[in-house]
Order: sequence, then C-alpha cells, then structure tokens
Amino acid sequence: MKYVLGIDLGTSATKTVLFDEKGNVVCSSSREYPLYQPKNGWAEQEPADWYNAGVETITEVVKNSGVSKEDIVSLGISGQMHGLVMLDENCEVLRPSIIWCDQRTGNECDELTEKLTREKLTEITANPALTGFTASKILWVKNNEPEIFERCRHILLPKDYLRFKLTGDFATEVSDASGMQLLDVPNRCWSQVMIDALGIKEEYLPKVYESPEVTGRINKETAEKTGLSEETLVVGGAGDNAAAAVGMGVVSEGKAFTTIGTSGVVFAHTDSPVIDKSGRVHTFCCAVPGKWHVMGVTQGAGLSLQWFRKQFCEEGTNYDIMTAEADKIPVGCDRLIYLPYLMGERTPHLDPDCRGVFFGISAMHTRAHFIRAVLEGVSYSLYDCVCVLKEMGISPAEMLVCGGGGKSAFWRQMLCDIFAVPVKTALSSEGPALGVAVLAAVGAGIYPSVEKACEAMVSYNDNAVYSDSEKTAQYMKYHKIYKSLYANLKDTYKDLAQV
Ligand code: XUL
Repeated sequence: MKYVLGIDLGTSATKTVLFDEKGNVVCSSSREYPLYQPKNGWAEQEPADWYNAGVETITEVVKNSGVSKEDIVSLGISGQMHGLVMLDENCEVLRPSIIWCDQRTGNECDELTEKLTREKLTEITANPALTGFTASKILWVKNNEPEIFERCRHILLPKDYLRFKLTGDFATEVSDASGMQLLDVPNRCWSQVMIDALGIKEEYLPKVYESPEVTGRINKETAEKTGLSEETLVVGGAGDNAAAAVGMGVVSEGKAFTTIGTSGVVFAHTDSPVIDKSGRVHTFCCAVPGKWHVMGVTQGAGLSLQWFRKQFCEEGTNYDIMTAEADKIPVGCDRLIYLPYLMGERTPHLDPDCRGVFFGISAMHTRAHFIRAVLEGVSYSLYDCVCVLKEMGISPAEMLVCGGGGKSAFWRQMLCDIFAVPVKTALSSEGPALGVAVLAAVGAGIYPSVEKACEAMVSYNDNAVYSDSEKTAQYMKYHKIYKSLYANLKDTYKDLAQV
C-alpha cells in the first residue's frame, strides 16, 4: 500500500492529513495561527507561522501514523488563495503577507483598470481588478512601501511559500496562480502585459505547472526535521477551492459544490473558460489539466458565525450549541435579516467598502434569532452566487457541501431549501487535503488521471436532503428584502468608508 500526504494551509489553521491510496484517512494533525487586522478592512498573516505549522503537523503525522517513510510517496499542498508573500534576494520574507480578505487595495484596482481597461483585464486574466487578488496587493506595496518593493525578488502565494521552504523550489500551479491576476487564464501561462503593468519581472514569479505535475522533492533539511524521505515527491497542488473540488469529485461538467469555511464559495466545473462579463464570479483554471471553473465568493461566511460566537457567546459555546439555538427560531427570524459583509463582499457586489448589517431588530428578538439570522444571511449570499451561475447557463442539478459549515445538518438543510436542489456531502470531510492527496497520487503514478484517482479515492454519504417548497417560498420573500438592503445602502457604505 502506498500513502500520500495532503496539507491544507488555511486561514485559521494548517491541517496535514495522511491518506492511503484508497483515500482513507490514516492520521491527521492541525495547528492554528493568528490573523492580524491592524486596520479596518486589513488582513495579514506571518509566513513563518504557516511554515512552522506545516513542519509541526507533517512531523506529527509521520511520527504517529506508524507508516514507514518510504511508503509516503508524495504530497500536495492546498492553500488559501491570493495572499502576497514577498522575498528579498536572500529569500527572506520582506513583510507580513497581505491575505485574500484584505480590502485595502481599492485605489490600486482603479489604477489597474485605468491603465489596462476592464475589457483587457477580463480578456487576459478572465476577471476584473479585485481587491482580493494578488496583483493589486503588489501595486499597493509599490505605492505605499516603495523601499520594500525595490528589495523584492520573489513573489509567492501562501502554499507556494511553504513549498519553497519544504523543497527549495520556486513553483506554483495554474489554479492558485489564476487568483494572482498575473496569469493568462485561457492560455494557462504568465501574462507579460500584467507583469509589465505592475513593474515587476517574470523572473520574480515561480514556474507554473498543472496541478498534478511533480514540481520537486522534499529537501534534506525538511526530511531531517519531519521524518519524511528525501524521495517524497511534491506535486503542484491547488488553491483551496480547486483542491476541495477534487476532494469531492467535482471534476467534470455539470458538477458543483458549496463550501463554508472562513469564506464561502459556490464552485462549478467547466470544460472551457466561461466568463461573467461583469466579473461577479471568478473564472479560474481548475486542478484538472486543461479545464476551468467558475466560482462565486462570500467573503464573510464561517467568519460571520465565528465573529458572533467570539463577541456574543459564553466561553465554551460551540457551533452545535449555536445551530441548536437557531433551530428553535422560524424561517426569516421573525423579520431579522443579516448582511454578512464583515470584510466587504465579492459576489455579486464586488464592493470592498460594504459592511455587515442586522436589519429589523425588535425588542422581541433573542440571541437565538441573531444566530439564525447570521446563518440565513450567509446562505442568502451563497444563493446570490448560485443565481449568477444560473444567469451564465450553469444550473447544477445537485449541490455537494463541505467546509466547517457543511458539517452542520441544520445548515445543509437551510442551503437546500434556499437553493432548491438536493444537497449531500462527500464521505471524507477533508475536502482540500484529500483533493491535493488525490493530485499527489496522480503525480506519483498511482492513478493515470485526476478523474480516475477521484473514482478510486472519493466517495459520498447517503445523506441527500431535498427542499421543502413551502420553506423555499418563505426564504425567497426574505431574500428579496435582503437584496434590496444592499441596493439601498450602497452609497451610504461609500460615505462610511470616507469618514
Ligand atoms: C477564493 C478566496 C478564498 C480563499 C480563502 O477566491 O479568496 O476562498 O481562498 O479560503
């Protein structure tokens, strides 16, 4: 039996999981790290925290698994997308990483759009300039910290920084690179136009691979620290959403999933690059060589519930207790509506300045109403993503659900009633980690293709739930009001951001 490692470098933690070649979990370990928010709308993390968490979790898994190091043939890394890591000529980190949910780069997005036009940006990168993407973060450093920009010699994404530390190789792969806004997404290679527009050099960027391709091997230092063999292959891996897709077998046209992690995503596989002209959903390369996906993003999905728990619940209140409270409240929360825009919003508004709202608060409302309103508001935002996909002609017949939020049967039923399609889960809850382990199995030659590896390593729970049409109708009444709230507040959000 051969074994493969999947490492998922997330926003709240890094989780490393060892799988056998059939996709069964052998052993896992995770480490949390902080997120720094020095200003409203800013979000940074320390690359050293990711590295330490990576090494510690790999070491623990190798040690506790009882599997001999020669049998761990390959590993893949999945990563939170878009984060900017800048290294100097000695490969030292120049500043904390500005990560995906940071919203400071509104001016830089305008600058990029003025310079290249929205049409050109969309033609090359398949997306308009967005605050979340790496390109505007590079420009922000250039405009605001020129001395750091001058010293920059390497630009990496979070998971590719970890790869560099584990292997010594500067490499990335198409799915995560798509979110940098430096990749020619239809042609799957770096865009010289984008490189020139940012005033960087192509040599600062890592080599681009397809996701299951081998990019290198573990170096001596990592082998000594972790107990892995120096023969262990490292494959391209994937951005966390493209990785989760593989981990759930969403690798062919017509398949889709929703994930609720810190952010929330509705993801659909496409065999060709399908682009929303107004840029409300992203079009990226997916982890299946030669294929793409579209995805809508809710910035503050699990983040909303986590924020509420931290601020307003007693120590020890877990998510099960919170959803049990919410279950006692009727659909619509007796007219309480939540907008989940804690970190601005992407789909469908593309607005870094909007912020969260509880609307319709009455003296009759209890904490349970607020919890349910948070769950409903996040679900409405994910439904907005589904609606944009439908406009683009993408209407999946069923929805797989994963991520922390997907573990809740209550939240899954809510999504099912709102989306009005059957909802089910994959057997493994390790979406992104399993996804990159599948890619690692392909890279090591255990399976001939991502599709074949999924057939062998991914299976599903027999837990499909179906929508209740009465509830769907009730939810739709509230969703209409939810949508009108943003329309009414749009200008006021701009005023608030100026104060
Ligand atoms: C996707 C996105 C998030 C991050 C963090 O565009 O920004 O899903 O990958 O998980």
